[in-house]
Amino acid sequence: MWTSIMDSKLLVNLASAPLLEQVMRQEDKYPIRDTMELWKAHRDYQNMPYGPFTTEGHQWYQLRHALNQRMLKPTDAALYTDALNDVIDDFIVRLNQIRAESVSGDQVPDMAHFFYHFALEAICYILFEKRVGCLEPLIPEDTVNFIRSVGFMFQNSIYVTFLPKWTRPLLPFWKRYLDGWDTIFLFGKKLLDEKFKEVDAQLQTAGPDGVQISGYMHFLLTNGLLSPREALGTLPELLMAGVDTTSNTLAWTLYHLSKDSELQAALHKEVVGVAPPEKVPQHKDLAQMPLLRAVLKETLRLYPVVPTNSRIITEKEIQVDGYLFPKNTQFVLCHYAASRDPSTFPDPESFQPHRWLRKSKVDAPKAQHPFGSVPFGYGVRGCLGRRVAELEMQLLLARLMQHYEVVLAPETGEIKPLARIVLVPNKKLALRFLKRQC
Ligand code: HEM
Repeated sequence: MWTSIMDSKLLVNLASAPLLEQVMRQEDKYPIRDTMELWKAHRDYQNMPYGPFTTEGHQWYQLRHALNQRMLKPTDAALYTDALNDVIDDFIVRLNQIRAESVSGDQVPDMAHFFYHFALEAICYILFEKRVGCLEPLIPEDTVNFIRSVGFMFQNSIYVTFLPKWTRPLLPFWKRYLDGWDTIFLFGKKLLDEKFKEVDAQLQTAGPDGVQISGYMHFLLTNGLLSPREALGTLPELLMAGVDTTSNTLAWTLYHLSKDSELQAALHKEVVGVAPPEKVPQHKDLAQMPLLRAVLKETLRLYPVVPTNSRIITEKEIQVDGYLFPKNTQFVLCHYAASRDPSTFPDPESFQPHRWLRKSKVDAPKAQHPFGSVPFGYGVRGCLGRRVAELEMQLLLARLMQHYEVVLAPETGEIKPLARIVLVPNKKLALRFLKRQC
């Protein structure tokens, strides 16, 4: 535990599982992650509504209560299996096109980038049952602009965070930051407007069975759980949360599998034992793939894609490790450090999915500390998309393992994690996908 100062704010940093546990177990009814001033500044400037990251208090609680429907539970996520498998079909087609275009005939030059396109396509399809063309050889202009704007907004937000406010009208960063968000909102608004039109048209012609519900947003809107304005504030924040996270996690997973042929062979065996290559893996198959789930868990332990999180406890003083902290203290939860702590995870730097597998009673390892690796956060403010993200990553990984052996391209070398809001590879991850014969 140590303190630091950022932007004249005192932060209390916590970097071990027992400390994280103490703070998270004392959180309020309406937990606050961070003041999110920068994101709110854009919404206020453009008179745009807040979403799940930016709202607080009772308003957040109500919004979150609505958003939890058809999203929070594993059985909710299972509803999206067919949609995800459709997107995975297209991912495989595009993968083979990219491989064929490479000199060796089997290589993809930048996996994180490719997975970004997959994850954006997948989340848009889940939210709207609408395809946005990310996996087509020629990506539509709107989608390209959206992808560029996300990068642009994040890059400029770093400058804006560290520069004093008075520089905003003088330097280009603030305007670029706002422009980035504007394009992101425009993309969301267009998707929503199309959805509203579709819902209206269906209402006009609805038969005795009512309107055919398609996609998460359609469900929330037609059931009156979300107003159009709430949907407008929510959508960009869901797109922000649901793309970089799953795409980078998948990239780290394949990086480690490509370096460990024995592990990859065991995973291949497990997957085809449950779902032979001619069968598309389904939600229920995943329950019989413990190694596959352990590989993703271990990836998120070594590379918690959200490397630090935060909590501000506003309602009461809290005690942590014998120290008393006043109301409104901001705690930084250092997940990256905690999940590499050797007192929680022996040999913490090595990639060992087996540490997550239940062994026989005789050699059972000591139970893991419940706060040793919490990549999706904790409690009522924990990740909304956890179950969908897990399903998406498991289905894609299973499909890849059925059909390919993944090998690190020689030029890739060693990859290190870089904390850029989310944890990203420090250089391009090039991989070869060798088609399996069986
Ligand atoms: C590997 C994938 C993902 C990881 C590791 C991840 C991780 C996280 C973490 C650590 C938080 C903060 C939780 C807390 O403060 O306790 C969070 C919040 C959130 N995530 Fe995820 N996430 C992932 C994917 C997704 C996806 C696919 C969606 C989209 C549906 C999503 C939507 C959200 C939302 C809306 C929040 C804010 C919740 C709130 O403040 O009420 N996430 N996520």
